[in-house]
Amino acid sequence: GRIAFQNRNLFMSDAPKSPRRSTAWFGGSDRAAFLHRSWMKGQGHPDDMFDGRPIIGICNTWSDLTPCNAHFRALAERIKRGVYEAGGFPVEFPVSSLGEPTMRPTTMLFRNLVSMDVEEAIRAHPIDGVVLMVGCDKTTPALMMGAASCDLPTLVLSGGPMLNGKFRGHDIGSGTDVFRFMDALKTGDMLLAEVSEAESGMTRSIGHCMTMGTASSMASMVEAIGMGLPDNATIPAADTRRWRLAQLVGRRIVGMVEEDLTFSKVVDRRSIENAIRVNAALGGSTNAVLHLLALAGRLEIDLTLDDWDRLGRDVPTIVNLKPSGDYLMEDFYYAGGIPGVIRRLGEAGLLHRDAATVNGRTIWENNSEAPIYNEDVIRPFERSLMASGGVVVLRGNIAENGAIMKPSAATPRLSQHRGRAIVFDSIEEYRARIDDPELDIDADSIMVLRNCGPTGYPGMPEVGNMGLPAKLLRQGVKDMVRISDARMSGTAYGTVILHCAPEAAVGGGLALVQEGDIIEVDVANRRLHLDVAPDVLEQRRAAWTPPAPGMTSGYQYMHASHVLQADRGADLDFLVGRRGAAVPREST
Ligand code: FES
Ligand code: MG
Repeated sequence: GRIAFQNRNLFMSDAPKSPRRSTAWFGGSDRAAFLHRSWMKGQGHPDDMFDGRPIIGICNTWSDLTPCNAHFRALAERIKRGVYEAGGFPVEFPVSSLGEPTMRPTTMLFRNLVSMDVEEAIRAHPIDGVVLMVGCDKTTPALMMGAASCDLPTLVLSGGPMLNGKFRGHDIGSGTDVFRFMDALKTGDMLLAEVSEAESGMTRSIGHCMTMGTASSMASMVEAIGMGLPDNATIPAADTRRWRLAQLVGRRIVGMVEEDLTFSKVVDRRSIENAIRVNAALGGSTNAVLHLLALAGRLEIDLTLDDWDRLGRDVPTIVNLKPSGDYLMEDFYYAGGIPGVIRRLGEAGLLHRDAATVNGRTIWENNSEAPIYNEDVIRPFERSLMASGGVVVLRGNIAENGAIMKPSAATPRLSQHRGRAIVFDSIEEYRARIDDPELDIDADSIMVLRNCGPTGYPGMPEVGNMGLPAKLLRQGVKDMVRISDARMSGTAYGTVILHCAPEAAVGGGLALVQEGDIIEVDVANRRLHLDVAPDVLEQRRAAWTPPAPGMTSGYQYMHASHVLQADRGADLDFLVGRRGAAVPREST
């Protein structure tokens, strides 16, 4: 009697205007409420933690197998400080993690699975608002997609990039320089012992990749769409200003719950368009295309591949970071970071200034006076790295629903090109043949790789930037046109045409290419054409049989049956949309 009375009193006197979700668990005086409170109190929480204050979920992707997120348990403590300070009740919970360096066949196969984990975990628990702790590439979209489908007040905290890599007195960048080292090994310009010395110099601190790869691009997208606090993307993981940011995130999410500032109230079409333009200014990862298409789908925002091309056309790449340029994320932070880039875009009329952000201010209010300290890192428009930096969408009989290319990482000379196709049906076949001295390949050839799309591999791995043959590297060839239905690492570079849709494994035009065919690439006219007569292509199509499915598990069966093609973000068809977070039925 006394306890129920006490709790009733607490809830009656302090009842929020619209009852919080968590009140459905902790606010009653029945057996279920007793159970919910009692077991939580077993962790040592005082009675008044259940008085109706906002309960903040801290969704943690910490894992020893995701080295980029391995510092997250300490960071979560800083978020909790902020939540307590603001009068909230923090509850940290784990979800599956996605570590690029360790997962096979590819983390992308599991992005949608983790998004389901996140969505169900949020909805099933007494959570009023949530902080998403993200870092390594896929952790960011997976958590945002799941949380977007729930649409509670949500704030994203990225884990921060590593400090600049160091090797023999020079800076080296995650991923990007590995590709160079591997080429140097092939040509004999580097010894294996030197490469292994570089291995530890590259990853010398906590944090995620410090090139403008996928992790940094997605952290930048978080800031650009307004889901993170200013400087979320660039403060190095090892810089204690990252801890301060985490504490501020904890304080702010409590306010967001009080204001009922939900995910979909922050992110609308304007926010996504801003993010697409920021990605062009960054020379950001091609993976961002897939992830923002999928996120928009969750939020029921009608975004297409063509929006990427249209919005990026007049945006120059002004951020001089590897793989498109020279510097690394640490330099970018000291130069002014994403706020400086947003300011430049706003001043050029390339920003929806009134887009909302999590701190309650507009994107322009947050960034209009951002300082820029190094104009070689954040260039003025007139000294851009590339005048039109946006992702290019190519179409033709090889990719009827589109393929993409990142011009800032490509060789301008190859943007208009005809070449003879060298075709690989799998990455294993590529590896077996590429360094065969008898392979009839020259610098003008076009390497084609297929059966590496969402269902094909399965999971659309980052194998699209196939390395060049050793014999051509030795002749000094630096780049060749490569076409595939795969993805490539955000840290990679080259004239690489990716994400061909529909993919070969479901009968896309890429499946019909034969070795020796002529392919025409015309970036200016957005054309990707297989120069073979239509009736010949029809004969080939009639003779085509799909490859045997590569799936080996229940989840993979579900993935293969429901995954959308790359032009639609490769989400599972039944996950598209916003389902909300209505309180589920009682468990007991
Ligand atoms: Fe984790 Fe690059 S491997 S961010
Ligand atoms: Mg990556």
